[in-house]
Amino acid sequence: MGRLNLKLMWSLTLISLCLYPYHVSGVLSTNHYANICPNLETIVRQAVQKKFQQTFVTIPSTLRLFFHDCFVQGCDASVMIASTANNKAEKDSSDNLSLAGDGFDTVIKAKAAVDAVPQCRNKVSCADILALATRDVVALGGGPSYSVELGRFDGLVSRASDVTGRLPQPEFKLNQLNTLFASNGLTQTDMVALSGAHTLGFSHCDRLSSRIYSTPVDPSLNKQYATQLQQMCPRNVDPRIAINMDPTTSKTFDNVYYKNLQQGKGLFTSDQILFTDQRSRATVNSFASNSNVFNQNFITAITKLGRVGVKNASNGKIRTDCSVL
Ligand code: HEM
Ligand SMILES: *[C@@H]1O[C@H](CO)[C@@H](O)[C@H](O)[C@H]1NC(C)=O
Ligand SMILES: *[C@@H]1O[C@H](CO)[C@@H](O)[C@H](O)[C@H]1NC(C)=O
Repeated sequence: MGRLNLKLMWSLTLISLCLYPYHVSGVLSTNHYANICPNLETIVRQAVQKKFQQTFVTIPSTLRLFFHDCFVQGCDASVMIASTANNKAEKDSSDNLSLAGDGFDTVIKAKAAVDAVPQCRNKVSCADILALATRDVVALGGGPSYSVELGRFDGLVSRASDVTGRLPQPEFKLNQLNTLFASNGLTQTDMVALSGAHTLGFSHCDRLSSRIYSTPVDPSLNKQYATQLQQMCPRNVDPRIAINMDPTTSKTFDNVYYKNLQQGKGLFTSDQILFTDQRSRATVNSFASNSNVFNQNFITAITKLGRVGVKNASNGKIRTDCSVL
């Protein structure tokens, strides 16, 4: 073998080794359940649709649940686990996750629909059902549709203590966001695209009080919007009060989130910094000006998110009840 070939082989080996941790699609595939449960995608979609007809919150709560699941111990439905006398689970972490109950309920309902089909019963992981339901709520919200990689197993542990430091905080600046997302195999562009999820849903007032009641008020915040936020979220407001995260089109999955950032109307520091910081501004501008570019980048990013820390048959299982280990 020539010297050049050897060199080439070495580089290829190195490249594949580097890619390996996040290249778990060797395990995942879009047709994983083709023979096991052929109608899986239709069953989940119909259950999600039914749940959506009961409440709009189905959309943002399911999307956020998927994100939180993947960032804590990987996409293994560990976030679904209920605490027991001996184990305080992720969802009860002191990090005040405020995950809306409807996201959990969406997965539980979809799982019941899947298990009602004898061939599918206890053959589909809760982690995969959450990944499918996430794709379905994005589409229901008017966002792009995409194929979902499947074949995840459900995790064997869920500990509140594992949440600490694994989730981004609304006060985060760009370096902190980039570091945390990079530790999950996601680039800055992925992070900016995934932040577009804040085009939907609600935030509790206490999450932004440090921005709107500091002196001076956060200067990157649009003045009119700041006043509006102070009116909706007065000092010492009932902490249960929640406001729309996208002040313009809060019920549509669109690129208006990025247009809002251009006007200083990002709700959190972690949103507004994407435009304020020169390093990510061009990405925000390109997503704001072209929704196809945003959609494509969102699909890439959420697919990569779905590969984080995926479990297999040796370190996971298929749960019969999504909330019980
Ligand atoms: C980039 C860093 C991020 C930070 C700092 C962050 C922080 C937050 C916070 C503080 C809330 C409000 C929770 C509440 O008060 O109830 C929230 C809501 C939400 N987040 Fe994020 N988030 C981030 C990224 C993401 C990502 C990547 C996704 C999904 C792909 C996402 C999806 C959502 C959704 C949909 C809601 C609304 C939830 C609802 O209405 O039930 N977030 N986020
Ligand atoms: C977290 O939430 C609980 C109730 O859900 C509340 O009692 C507590 O004050 C909150 N803590 C913080 C730091 O916001
Ligand atoms: C399962 O995943 C673990 C951790 O990523 C890995 O070490 C192990 O080799 C995998 N097992 C199989 C059977 O793929």
